[in-house]
Amino acid sequence: MEADNEWKPDNRWQEKAAAKGRRSKWIVSRACWLVGLCSDRPQAIGSVIALIGLIAVGVAVGVTLAKKNSSKSSSSTGGSTVKQTDPNDPSTFVKDSRLHQSFYGLAYTPAGSQLPDCGNNLTDVITDIQIMSQLTTRLRLYGADCNQTALVLEAIKQTKTNMSVYLGNYPIATDSNAAYDRQRDELKSALQTYGTDNVIGITVGNEFMLNYLNANSATDPNGAVGNQGAALLNADITDMRSTLSGLSLSKTLTVGTSDAGSYFNNEVLAAVDYGMSNVHPWFANVSIDDAAAWTADFFAQNNVAPAAQLSNNPKMFIAETGWPTHSLDAGNESNGPSTATEENLQKFLDTFVCQANANGTGYFYFETFDEPWKDVQFGGVEGSWGMFYSNKTLKGITIPDCVSS
Ligand SMILES: *[C@@H]1O[C@H](CO)[C@@H](O)[C@H](O)[C@H]1NC(C)=O
Ligand SMILES: *[C@@H]1O[C@H](CO)[C@@H](O)[C@H](O)[C@H]1NC(C)=O
Ligand SMILES: *[C@@H]1O[C@H](CO)[C@@H](O)[C@H](O)[C@H]1NC(C)=O
Ligand SMILES: *[C@@H]1O[C@H](CO)[C@@H](O)[C@H](O)[C@H]1NC(C)=O
Ligand SMILES: *[C@@H]1O[C@H](CO)[C@@H](O)[C@H](O)[C@H]1NC(C)=O
Ligand SMILES: *[C@@H]1O[C@H](CO)[C@@H](O)[C@H](O)[C@H]1NC(C)=O
Ligand SMILES: *[C@@H]1O[C@H](CO)[C@@H](O)[C@H](O)[C@H]1NC(C)=O
Repeated sequence: MEADNEWKPDNRWQEKAAAKGRRSKWIVSRACWLVGLCSDRPQAIGSVIALIGLIAVGVAVGVTLAKKNSSKSSSSTGGSTVKQTDPNDPSTFVKDSRLHQSFYGLAYTPAGSQLPDCGNNLTDVITDIQIMSQLTTRLRLYGADCNQTALVLEAIKQTKTNMSVYLGNYPIATDSNAAYDRQRDELKSALQTYGTDNVIGITVGNEFMLNYLNANSATDPNGAVGNQGAALLNADITDMRSTLSGLSLSKTLTVGTSDAGSYFNNEVLAAVDYGMSNVHPWFANVSIDDAAAWTADFFAQNNVAPAAQLSNNPKMFIAETGWPTHSLDAGNESNGPSTATEENLQKFLDTFVCQANANGTGYFYFETFDEPWKDVQFGGVEGSWGMFYSNKTLKGITIPDCVSS
């Protein structure tokens, strides 16, 4: 609770915003539509040439990693550590006794799901689902580009796992709705193919309000500028609901939104069934010893309490929380009071997961696998939040063992 004295709510989101602003210098929006921490829509057009260079490096790293993995792999799943008793039947995967279905949910983006290069594939997503199904029964996706919705639903079908998904649509405020429309059509087609058995809802928006306010030099999500952004997002939310009702699906899917913890607009919340909030003790410079309690407290005060005052009473979830284990550079290895280590990831898991389950908090842990392309693009700790390395080997941690509701 000392953290509360040092970190007023305003400081918390400023820290988060500052981290975001740093990133936005490096990217143009197309590379970031689908990803967790990388979710900025930069305001000025960034350097496309630099981006292409970064993509080339990313592809080179990806290819190198893929080669390294496949040469070491003893299974048919292209670098995976998951064994199948029948190589042709993904539902026959062998369970790993170190894993437990202790997590309410996991935040997930299949590797290679960013335009323009994409590069994801069913084999890789099947391996991910085989592993994640041993940790949780729920996933949330951030967007729908690169066919990721169909890949995830197909992988759930082939693995025959008990996995339900919040699908995602990641709109951009300044592209005349091109990103929203494109992803809506991908979602439509995937729902027509796979139905709704494994789908819970559709999240429209990923840090849309954060980005809109940053772009327009405003800070109050419920101020005049915030309400302008909210009107844009609400138009997409309305369109998503009418798209869904036009599909004659066998069940009504919920529609929600996801944003940074201090960026929820009440007009958006009044239009959704649920809100998902990014709550990151690391970016708020909270020590590992205070991290779990800070997360619970921040979420209760800034998200659950305000939502409960709205007449539609939207259900609130933690969209992302976690702890990094490594930094590419010494300067980012510490957030101030704590360092990025596997020992501290273990402490966060041990103090957050089962306690949040017991408290009835719905959260999507960030994240399962390290994301090397973020190392290339952002450096620092960005690529190192996984419980597993990117080669799908478990880090030196013990997965908590408790029941998730
Ligand atoms: C499948 O996707 C993974 C993750 O992007 C990649 O490492 C792997 O090389 C891909 N496999 C094929 C056959 O393209
Ligand atoms: C599947 O998971 C849900 C929670 O997401 C749980 O309620 C249900 O009982 C599970 N079904 C089976 C067959 O385990
Ligand atoms: C999308 O993924 C599904 C499931 O693997 C596959 O059947 C379909 O052909 C894919 N579509 C495209 C355009 O790649
Ligand atoms: C942290 O990482 C970012 C991105 O790589 C870099 O720009 C910054 O200089 C680093 N900060 C420190 C204190 O080293
Ligand atoms: C958080 O800690 C980092 C590393 O010590 C520091 O660079 C940054 O300024 C701190 N953030 C705030 C808002 O003080
Ligand atoms: C769970 O609830 C207790 C009691 O309100 C609180 O102290 C704790 O921080 C909560 N923990 C989590 C992880 O939600
Ligand atoms: C996976 O990656 C980690 C971290 O780079 C490394 O220590 C480990 O040896 C790798 N495992 C395999 C099977 O390649």
